[in-house]
Amino acid sequence: MSNYLQRAQKVFDRINQLAAISEQATGITRTFGTPEFLQGSALVSGWMHDAGLQTRMDNIGNVRGRLLSKNPGAKTFVIASHIDTVINAGRFDGPLGVILGLDLLEQLIINKTELPFHIELIAFSDEEGVRFHTTYLGSKVVAGTFDNSFLDRTDKTGTTLKQVVQSLGSNIDLLTADAIPVNELLGYFEVHIEQGPVLWQSKIPVAVVTAIAGQKRIEITLTGMTGHAGTVPMAIRNDALTCAAEFVLAAEKLGKENKDRLVVTVGKLDIDGSASNVIPGKVLCSLDVRSPDERYLDIAYQQLKDSCTKICSERKIQLNWNLVQQTKPVVCDSGLNVLLKQAINKSNIELIELVSGAGHDAVPISAVAPVSMLFVRCFEGISHNPLENAELADVAAAIEVSDRFLEELIKKHL
Ligand code: GLV
Ligand code: MN
Ligand code: MN
Repeated sequence: MSNYLQRAQKVFDRINQLAAISEQATGITRTFGTPEFLQGSALVSGWMHDAGLQTRMDNIGNVRGRLLSKNPGAKTFVIASHIDTVINAGRFDGPLGVILGLDLLEQLIINKTELPFHIELIAFSDEEGVRFHTTYLGSKVVAGTFDNSFLDRTDKTGTTLKQVVQSLGSNIDLLTADAIPVNELLGYFEVHIEQGPVLWQSKIPVAVVTAIAGQKRIEITLTGMTGHAGTVPMAIRNDALTCAAEFVLAAEKLGKENKDRLVVTVGKLDIDGSASNVIPGKVLCSLDVRSPDERYLDIAYQQLKDSCTKICSERKIQLNWNLVQQTKPVVCDSGLNVLLKQAINKSNIELIELVSGAGHDAVPISAVAPVSMLFVRCFEGISHNPLENAELADVAAAIEVSDRFLEELIKKHL
């Protein structure tokens, strides 16, 4: 077995150990702040510590390990991804970037590599935003853009984000101090599965990411009138669920009509007090809209809002439209990407460049540092699904490319 394959096997073993920690008996679910989230964080923290990194958990629950340069005034290069998951997730979305990153640092330690900059490995605590319908809580704290009003958000049990953060033993007054000052940040690198089909179809193990699509997430509350399913005539109902159904189809239609530049998803519908013999009076509906084109994203957002308003008014349903999260499209750093492309070339891999439709922690970090990402092929492009998988050989290729990338980056700054 080649050295890269052996390292990839170690990465897989760790990914499997982390995947065994879940809120559900079957499948993988680790959402922000749960006991299983903490158990997963402790496992990763132990690995970082054992590798010789200066390790700590910060106030938003990010696990952070530093490998120091001998120059105390040096800048910091961040290697990171997330270890929270969606519900019933795959093993690789997030953990791959953290655990592969750890392997890169272990190799630098084994080789006694002299570092011209500090390297900080971060396992971000909340990228998916499942529990509080927000994303990037961990990376926003590191970027210094965390909005304290998020702390009042509640999960489905009514627990606030503030309470969850405090339950981690954290001090919310110190969240700002967990940011890395802009003038100390050298750059950012994240390895992630592609979560789409391009690499799978082209039979290429890795790709350089050139940009990440912008996105908006909206929480829609539709309020009609609860009633008896047997007695209220069809003509006079105010059914919040049929209103949601009409909007879901209108949103899909807009996405399909603009399929080259837009994706639209309603992934969540909560029917208040649902029962087969009750006309739904209140429905909570999520909306996720993404485009690599910022101007078009704004246009589509307005079209969706207008369409929802019209459907609600025709059906006499009260609409509450709440834009809960938005990020602009992000362009990855051309300088870092030159090094990444050289590394791919030296590894004898055909170069392919991709725009990411998925969001990544690189997005908030891009506000304060140049960012770069390497995508790894995944089985049939499937993600956010227990079938998510990656080949050992592709992870070995990603390790080889990342090693060479770091080597070049170090040379450039010595
Ligand atoms: C993160 O997985 C996203 O929703 O893009
Ligand atoms: Mn994800
Ligand atoms: Mn991810």
